[in-house]
Amino acid sequence: MESVADLAARRRTFAIISHPDAGKTTLTEKFLLYGGAVQEAGQVKARGERRRARSDWMELEQKRGISITSAVLQFPYRGNVLNLLDTPGHRDFSEDTYRVLAAVDAAVMVLDAAKGIESQTLKLFEVCRARNVPLLTFINKWDRPGRDALELLDEIESRLDLQPVPVTWPVGIAGDFRGLIDRPRERFVRFGRTAHGAATATEEVLDLEQAAAEEGDAWKAAIDEVALLDEVAGGVDLDLFLAGEQSPVFVGSALTNFGVGLLLDGIVDLAPPPSPRLDVDGAARKLDDPFSGQVFKVQANMDRAHRDRVAFVRVWSGRFERGMVVTHQPTGRPFATKYAHSVFAQERETLEEAYPGDIVALVNASDVRVGDTLYVDTPVEYPRLPEFAPEHFVTARARDTGRFKQFRRGIAQLDDEGVVQVLRDPDLGDQAPVLAAVGPMQLEVASWRLEHEFGAAAELTPTPYTIARRTDEASAPELARMPGVRVLARASGTLYALFESPYWLARVEDEYPELTLERLVAEGTQG
Ligand code: G4P
Repeated sequence: MESVADLAARRRTFAIISHPDAGKTTLTEKFLLYGGAVQEAGQVKARGERRRARSDWMELEQKRGISITSAVLQFPYRGNVLNLLDTPGHRDFSEDTYRVLAAVDAAVMVLDAAKGIESQTLKLFEVCRARNVPLLTFINKWDRPGRDALELLDEIESRLDLQPVPVTWPVGIAGDFRGLIDRPRERFVRFGRTAHGAATATEEVLDLEQAAAEEGDAWKAAIDEVALLDEVAGGVDLDLFLAGEQSPVFVGSALTNFGVGLLLDGIVDLAPPPSPRLDVDGAARKLDDPFSGQVFKVQANMDRAHRDRVAFVRVWSGRFERGMVVTHQPTGRPFATKYAHSVFAQERETLEEAYPGDIVALVNASDVRVGDTLYVDTPVEYPRLPEFAPEHFVTARARDTGRFKQFRRGIAQLDDEGVVQVLRDPDLGDQAPVLAAVGPMQLEVASWRLEHEFGAAAELTPTPYTIARRTDEASAPELARMPGVRVLARASGTLYALFESPYWLARVEDEYPELTLERLVAEGTQG
């Protein structure tokens, strides 16, 4: 039997980060096609639609035509197991997206060849950098007119302070795409179009001489660029890539399948397999130690018929077997995993076992919160996930005071799931908590769920606050006395000081350097 370490070495757990419309969904679908997980393009969306017809808390999702929930997809490729954690694809932004990035070992940044780096790309990139997630870059939509490839590399370098190193290089300008030079293997891969991109692209491999003879001027231009790249960038340096200083770049077109196989090869060859995770004391939990994992996402009522609560766990060590009784670290209580699932495009399949890098979906996880550690045998506790900087704050009150109990339960649940951060004034408690969010859509979801799921419609009133800092007990009284500042507490006890404007915050920081005002992760990257 293969050892856990061997099985882990064959896994790649990653996410795709991109600005809406860059092609994330299309690329995901093509990945599944290459992995043989779906037979025909279009199935990913079709599955989504079927699911939407079934689960109605997603009325909101349907109305807006967006996907709020993230899926976890697992598919085989070249004898490896790829776990793709989908980040929510809407224009708004939530903590959910950030948390997914806490559970991956690498990410693929997809850029639209005509647009380059856009606001959402930048925000997500900042999170990857803060968490040391190595990034591969895919320049998509090369089948249609776009910007010059060298210019796009310059933009990556100057705006992200990240050295792009092309692994594949296009022959033919954007819009006249002939194929790709596969730099490490010194060969040319020519593409043939397929009907509606329904099957994997036909690929013809030519050696460099053949390619020169057959591709004429386009080839000459490409080979000159490659010579220049050889001089400037050289090849991929694995250490620099893993340190987040370099990004291997792939070019292609998800729609026509061009370059998708080479990108998958790049993920398998370059992206790191799961590695031992450090616990709160900085000690590494070895891959073949007993099972351990961390919850990075909790979702309630994915299926209305079941009224359940699903915890998504990233496995960090050991073999997980369905039915195993694991320990819930924060409470020390046993947790039976009879109902463990893998999640394929939101459709559940019973999961029998999982290894480091895999994601397990646990149903009926009522006391499990985001960030919690689960283990068997030797205890372990992983560091909590970082709290992200909210920029939208509203006060919530139950519309009908007779429904206060339901309101209170709903608020606690939404806080647990991380739909919003709930901040309380010690004097007001749950009467008028402040709901804080990274993006405004989170507030919309919270309001909808309070009304439809908990039967406690809420009145949300805007507050003047726009920025938060973490503070402590010692600084809180002084801050609370200042005009334009409010100090509130999270359920965890963490204190936040809210400010009306960055200007006001800067002034307070300037005049009271002794007060604790810590930045939260990924702040000020909102574009
Ligand atoms: P997203 O998940 O990142 O938001 O992007 P998505 O894949 O939905 O793609 C956004 C649009 O870009 C889609 O067009 C899609 O077909 C198109 N697209 C994706 N990859 C490529 C590519 O390589 N080349 C070209 N030319 N287009 C690409 P749409 O018109 O909005 O949707 P649809 O009607 O085609 O589904």
